[in-house]
Amino acid sequence: MSDDNKETAGSQGPRGEGEPRERVIGTPSPARDKALLAEDDISAPAGSGEQLDEQSARRAERTVALLFLLAFAASVAFIAYYIGWSGRNGGMHGILRAQESNFWLGGTMAAAFLLLAAGVTIWVRRLMTSKPITQERHELTTDAETRAAFTQDFLEGAADSGLTKRPLLRRTLLLAAAPLGLAPLVLLRDLGPLPEKRLRHTHWGEAVEKAKAEGKKGVRLVVDGTHKPLRVSDFATPGSMITVLPEGMEEDVPEHDVLTETAKAVTILINVPESQFKPAEGRENWHVNGIVAYSKVCTHVGCPAALYEQTTHHILCPCHQSTFDATDAAKVIFGPAARPLPQLPLSVEDGYLVATSDFPEPIGPSFWERG
Ligand code: FES
Repeated sequence: MSDDNKETAGSQGPRGEGEPRERVIGTPSPARDKALLAEDDISAPAGSGEQLDEQSARRAERTVALLFLLAFAASVAFIAYYIGWSGRNGGMHGILRAQESNFWLGGTMAAAFLLLAAGVTIWVRRLMTSKPITQERHELTTDAETRAAFTQDFLEGAADSGLTKRPLLRRTLLLAAAPLGLAPLVLLRDLGPLPEKRLRHTHWGEAVEKAKAEGKKGVRLVVDGTHKPLRVSDFATPGSMITVLPEGMEEDVPEHDVLTETAKAVTILINVPESQFKPAEGRENWHVNGIVAYSKVCTHVGCPAALYEQTTHHILCPCHQSTFDATDAAKVIFGPAARPLPQLPLSVEDGYLVATSDFPEPIGPSFWERG
């Protein structure tokens, strides 16, 4: 590499003795630092703000202002879509609605940032002066003189940027940035609404009440997936496990709540050998010949406790290995869960397994906000 090609910006020949040092683009090695600064002269690149006539500057100013206004419009469109459309008809359900929402939210947000970036780029390239800056290597601690010089440079830079001189740019930039600054606050809406008392109960409670109002003993258990009511004789083999839900849930729960209510009500039914079963005090009649029902929602952080070990009668949560004893009121015997899986009281009616009340305690992690 010849000396002419050394890494300096706008090099236009050697700098004279006593002239101020100029900006070096890139990071030369310490050994070359002083040599470069001593050898090269740096001046403002062509097309900088210093060399623009006022007419060109005004044209650039209008272009930048237009981009900022478009960025503002895109930001407003983002918020308007988020508040006005994405939550319509009770919220976003289904893949198509999610795709539509992602397209418009992502598109408007990307447009806002791109337009803002384009405006700032043109502003910097066309309107700001390209004043050379001295950058010297020095000790980490800065002396008072350097700090004063920095302050001076900062104030000069602020003045050179036109921020004070060009109120149109300043105002349109603030206008464009304001909605983007508020966007994260708007997203906090997803933290609400508060669940109030909805996490205290599951659909088992309502289903049992409805069944009792019809003169029945309780609500029948149906197999998750087939919705087939379960007879005691269908589940007579010790060591088996199956997931059940309350009968009629799909018809009784509004469509947009079915997933939520299913996630809360999901229950595991286990046939524990009666000889090994140790019913908790006061719950002696909550099982049917060793058939016992527990919430499937892990009391640690809510994963489905979906694994059952036939030989040990342990229920395992695959997320963090919490282990519950199915023979002993689903007490925690290992892992981070802090309390047993809630138990659902069972009985028999016309040969079918029925639940006679809701879970007596709230299901799921203890930290869930239950109102
Ligand atoms: S969620 Fe079950 S062990 Fe963590």
